[in-house]
Amino acid sequence: MQQGSVIIRGVGSYLPRKILTNHDLASMVDTSDEWIRTRTGISQRHIADAHETCSDLAYVAAKSALENAQLKAQDIDLLVVATMTPDMICPSLAAILQAKLGLRKVMSFDINAACSGFLYALEVATRLLQNGNFYKRALVIGAEKMSSLIDWEDRSTCVLFGDAAGASVLEHTSTEQVGILDAILRADGSFSPGILYIPAGGSLHPATTDTVTQRQHFIKMNGRELFKTSVRLMGKVIEELLERNHLTKADIACLIPHQANLRIIQSLAQSIGLSMDRVFCNLEVTGNTSSASIPVAFTQAKSAHYFRSGDYIVLVAFGGGLTWGATLIKW
Ligand code: UT7
Repeated sequence: MQQGSVIIRGVGSYLPRKILTNHDLASMVDTSDEWIRTRTGISQRHIADAHETCSDLAYVAAKSALENAQLKAQDIDLLVVATMTPDMICPSLAAILQAKLGLRKVMSFDINAACSGFLYALEVATRLLQNGNFYKRALVIGAEKMSSLIDWEDRSTCVLFGDAAGASVLEHTSTEQVGILDAILRADGSFSPGILYIPAGGSLHPATTDTVTQRQHFIKMNGRELFKTSVRLMGKVIEELLERNHLTKADIACLIPHQANLRIIQSLAQSIGLSMDRVFCNLEVTGNTSSASIPVAFTQAKSAHYFRSGDYIVLVAFGGGLTWGATLIKW
């Protein structure tokens, strides 16, 4: 049986053109630039046009990742898309994207693990590519049109989110011990519902006139609870991942966390004793883009030379479910 590793051969991202600033939001709901910046670290977010679908965002990011990897659509053997905002409930966003990109008729499916979705997708694709016998290359995408789930009258959530897509091309290589080395992914459904959820539109509460008038198709969140829980769980999972790989925090050249809130990221860095100069942050200009947040940040961190060949990179995320996890990469 073939062994080896799974490397990230190319990355790409897409942020819609339209920018919504904190000042814009202050004219829509009872909030202020000062409140949003000091409580979240966010100054602006990108918002897709009404006609732009989530698969449109994913398409641009995927093309860019293929170009970066110097590969063609035909070279891809597997497509995994992390999203909680697919174009439709059915078909999957991945099936739509398979056709848009002109991939061969390869296995294509969605994963919904909210903001941890990209790390879940990365893990599933890595395991499928692992021995190189069945699949050689995968396209792994995190794409969200969060603006389609936002209640623009709810100041506690509408200031947080943005739209984006990020993509990675994964490839099996015969070289040992490089690329995606390890991951720990977790879920605990006993927190839900209540901490982060969209009450209606599923089989529990299908759409009715009442669900629409009661604004039940929008995202609801207990931000304070999520804040405390996320810092604790992300800190623990990073420590577990490092220990399992006989590494310490001193070995981390770059931490790329889910971009939800700068205070969460700072508390996390403090709790694991990592200095902020080794933590990549872009949420000031993107807001929280759920499963797109890590692949977009990764693409930007790579362009900004935040890590070099041989460096250890840790990705960490948390989100609705609850779901959370961390991934260890040797670049
Ligand atoms: O990717 C996973 C998804 N979600 C998250 O990661 C969110 C995690 N949580 C957070 O980021 C923070 O909890 C928030 C940014 C959502 C909220 O910050 P906080 O420091 O936890 O504020 P809070 O919820 O405790 O609210 C403090 C006050 C409240 O007023 P009172 O009750 O103290 O009078 C809120 O009503 O701030 C008020 N408030 C606002 N004020 C102005 C809530 N939202 C706003 C707003 N503008 N947009």
